[in-house]
Amino acid sequence: MQTRLWRLIKNEEQLNEEKLNEAAALIREGEVVAFPTETVYGLGANGLNGSAVRKIFAAKGRPADNPLILHIAKKNEIEQLTAGLSANAQALMQAFWPGPLTLVVPKSALIPDEVSAGLDTVAVRMPVHPVARRLIALAGCPIAAPSANKSGKPSPTNAQDVLEDMNGLIAGIIDGGSSDIGVESTVVDTTTPVPVILRPGGITKEMLEEVLGAVEIDPALAGNSECRPKAPGMKYRHYAPQAPMYLFIGNEAPLQMKAAIAKGLASGKKIGVIANAAVATALPKDSNLVIRNWQEDPAVLAENLFTWLRSFDHEKVNVILAQGVAETGLGLALMNRLRKAAGNNILLAENQKLFVQSGTCPEFL
Ligand code: TXA
Ligand code: MG
Repeated sequence: MQTRLWRLIKNEEQLNEEKLNEAAALIREGEVVAFPTETVYGLGANGLNGSAVRKIFAAKGRPADNPLILHIAKKNEIEQLTAGLSANAQALMQAFWPGPLTLVVPKSALIPDEVSAGLDTVAVRMPVHPVARRLIALAGCPIAAPSANKSGKPSPTNAQDVLEDMNGLIAGIIDGGSSDIGVESTVVDTTTPVPVILRPGGITKEMLEEVLGAVEIDPALAGNSECRPKAPGMKYRHYAPQAPMYLFIGNEAPLQMKAAIAKGLASGKKIGVIANAAVATALPKDSNLVIRNWQEDPAVLAENLFTWLRSFDHEKVNVILAQGVAETGLGLALMNRLRKAAGNNILLAENQKLFVQSGTCPEFL
């Protein structure tokens, strides 16, 4: 299949509208089109058409038991999709829509089984990105969309990354520039008396608590392997770069990371590094070091994390060493993505030692 690419251009509203009309027509015809949102790019199809939705699963190589998010353009469009909204769900829509928040709600009879993967709930999100919203409006249907990566790879935050995974597999890609937030939406189950965060994301736990009073976190997210995550997608390996990755946490992470990098270089490794400025700027200039510096700002890490992981594949590094962030605010979502990308290889630095908290340790240490 020939994949079309529509490049949107700033201040060319008329031209852009024509392109979005072509994309929307393909969605109405049951095809799959990738589009930008403020979190990551989505792989969209008509969310009320089961056979169109199956094409998303085929293009992504996604397991059929992993349900999709339905994207809507106006708040009231959720009404036909749900069997009823809790007071908590309504409060969250009021506070955070449009934006990077996905609500799991009881589903209505309209929802194809392909979307909900056999669950009796459906996930719904109203993005703030104007291109996403205009596309949904022009298509005239809710758009089912997972992140537009091949299953298991980092989510794409620009059209080039989508093209890398999806060229030849889908009808088209709308290039609307880079996604601002860079990590996926927060997924909240609103069907329980106390809502539960199934996936941390752009709307933080602290922000949710301000509206809801109390909110829980799915215990499976803490890496407790005895629990099965309530969001089926959270159980899969994800965001995995090609090289093995190790995540440094603990008080002495900066120090131990610098020492580990020196040892890795000495043993001839090409090393991808993700670190804050304090660590990144203290490293030697070496052609075997590919350094990604998030300054001291978790938002910079969020915006760039997935492209950086992909860039390590392009640079063919042998190993990736990443520095953890504090698990508050956006840090909760970032640590969730970092742990997964690292396949749970977590190294704890304290008392002038490095301990393997889970997973394995690089052989040069
Ligand atoms: O930011 C985002 O959320 C992006 C953009 C494109 O909107 N989408 C996205 O979709 O990340 P996806 O499919 O990659 O992740 C959706 C997550 C998965 O972990 C899935 O299992 C979970 O939401 N999910 C979907 N429907 C659910 C449901 N009814 N109950 C529990 N979890 C659900
Ligand atoms: Mg995804």
